[in-house]
Order: sequence, then C-alpha cells, then structure tokens
Amino acid sequence: MSTTYGTFPGSRPRRLRTTPAMRRMVAEYRLHPSDLILPAFVREGAAEPVPISAMPGVVQHTRDTLRKAAVEALEAGVAGIMLFGVPEEAKKDALGTAGTDPDGILQVAIRDVKAEVGDELVIMSDLCLDEYTDHGHCGVLDAEGRVDNDATLERYAEMAQVQADAGVHVVGPSGMMDGQVGVIRDALDQTGHEDVSILAYTAKYASAFYGPFREAVGSSLQGDRKTYQQDPANLRESMRELELDLAEGADMVMVKPALPYLDVLAKVAESVDVPVAAYQISGEYAMVEAAAANGWIDRDRAIMETLTGIKRAGANMILTYWATEVARQL
Ligand code: PBG
Repeated sequence: MSTTYGTFPGSRPRRLRTTPAMRRMVAEYRLHPSDLILPAFVREGAAEPVPISAMPGVVQHTRDTLRKAAVEALEAGVAGIMLFGVPEEAKKDALGTAGTDPDGILQVAIRDVKAEVGDELVIMSDLCLDEYTDHGHCGVLDAEGRVDNDATLERYAEMAQVQADAGVHVVGPSGMMDGQVGVIRDALDQTGHEDVSILAYTAKYASAFYGPFREAVGSSLQGDRKTYQQDPANLRESMRELELDLAEGADMVMVKPALPYLDVLAKVAESVDVPVAAYQISGEYAMVEAAAANGWIDRDRAIMETLTGIKRAGANMILTYWATEVARQL
C-alpha cells in the first residue's frame, strides 16, 4: 500500500521567496532616491539649529544649515526640497504679512537654496499662511473670526508671486481654500511665472498627526482646521477636490497624511494622469521614531516598510523627513 500524503499544493508561492536574490528579483515596487522629497524648516534669526522635540532628528534650520541640508539631499539623490519658513514671533500678525514680504524668511530661504543648488534640486515652497499668522490659521479671518476663503485667496496670490520671484520651482498650496489652485495659477501667469508648477494638496485631511508640525513651525493655532481641511471619514470628497484641482490647473496632486489614507492615495493614483505625491507627515515620523526609541520596533525596517507601502499605493513622489537618510541607503 502506498502512503497517501493528501493533496499537495499545486502552486507554491514560497518558491519565489526562498533567497534574498530571488526576492529582490521579483519585487514589484522599489524605492528610488528620486522618489523622495525632503521637507525642511528654516527659522528666522536662528544662530544654531533648533531641535524639534516631537521630531527627534529634525531641526529648525538656520539659513546656513539649510543650505548644507539641501546639498546633502542633492548628493544623496533626493529629488526635491519643500521649504517651510518659521518667522520671528514678533513678525506674526493677523494677515500673515511676513508670508508676502519679499525679505520674509521663506523667500530668503528659497533664494539661499537656489544659490546653492540652482536647478539641480527641485525647490518647493509651502504656500500657506499658518506659519505667519498670530492666530495660526491657514487664512485670514473675517469679523466673526471665521477663516475667510476669498480674502485668503488674495493673500495666496501675493504669496505665489513673491515665492516665484524668489526663484521657487514648485509652489505647494496647503491651505485647502476653495479655488486656491486657480487663483495661484492666474497670479503666476500674470507675473511672468508660467514655468512655476503647482503641487496641489488635493486631499488634505484634518489630522491629529500634524501635531509635531505645530511645534516645528512654532504655530499657536487657536481652535482647529475642520472648516477647511477634509473630514477623515470622507473618500468620495477627495475625488471632488481632485476634479477641481485639475480643472484649476494643478500640475501634480498630493494626498496627506499618507499612512492612514493609503486608500485615498490609491484611488487618486488610479484616477489621474498627472504625477501623484504623498506626504508622510510629522506625526507619522514621530510614531516610528518614538516606538523605535523604546525598542518596540526595528526603526530602519519600519521606515522602509512605510515608504514602500506608500509607493505601492500609487505615489510617484513621497515627502518624508527621512528623505536624505533613506536615499543614502538605497
Ligand atoms: C500647513 C501645513 C501643515 C503641514 C504642512 N503644511 C500643517 C497643518 O495643516 O496643520 C503639516 C506637515 C506635517 O505635519 O509634517 N501650512
């Protein structure tokens, strides 16, 4: 009598997982340094870089160390840098005027980085008022204290012009005002900046994971952003924002945060024919760093896994505070 072993698997997916070489060969997605964009903060008047306690390893740069960080990113093969300005506290006001001052910190930083790396690195800038307003909102307020959409658009148009004048390649409007992409496109075109691109924050959710960013830019936000950023409960709404941004002239679109919104990212990525970015934000960074510091997860593997997941979901570009470090490892 022959022994019966039951039914053998007719198919054995494990064969393709047997060795590192085999796994490398059959990998469907790979990260490349040029997928990555480094978000960076620059603080006006800083003599030394200022550590951000909720983002271990990330600092508010001085003008000097920002230039160095840009060169390091370039040497590592990173594609771009997204700049955020942190003005002196005394320069914040209700209208966020430091954001439209040609000598405001962000404009100065754009010129610095441009002088250092020219067109070798794609230079991007956050186009939003929250870093410059004393109330911390992304727009200007009306008499009742609500964020005034259309008055804010006028401020954004001015910001677009000064950032473009400073030499930025891409502006990233992150304020979630209705019509912002169209107004910014017009402002750029009317001031001779037809070549400046718009990376639209298409699906930007009102997220708890922005927490560490508030420290990073010294924001004193009163209240929350729920009347302009999207409700985490909504997916279809992102499709509406996407249609509007494309119609208004977005060159690239972005989903933010990344990890809790991979479904949104996947849906956006399959719906468009423009490049798609995802922003792995401050709280996503902090979560991994905090767990790793406690010895609860393997930091390097966790970082790569999150980035691979974001790429697999459909991102062509990933903004991550680990950009330079990861690019060096790839
Ligand atoms: C708004 C802006 C924010 C971030 C990028 N642009 C903060 C917010 O919307 O509250 C968050 C980035 C991060 O958390 O890493 N200017």
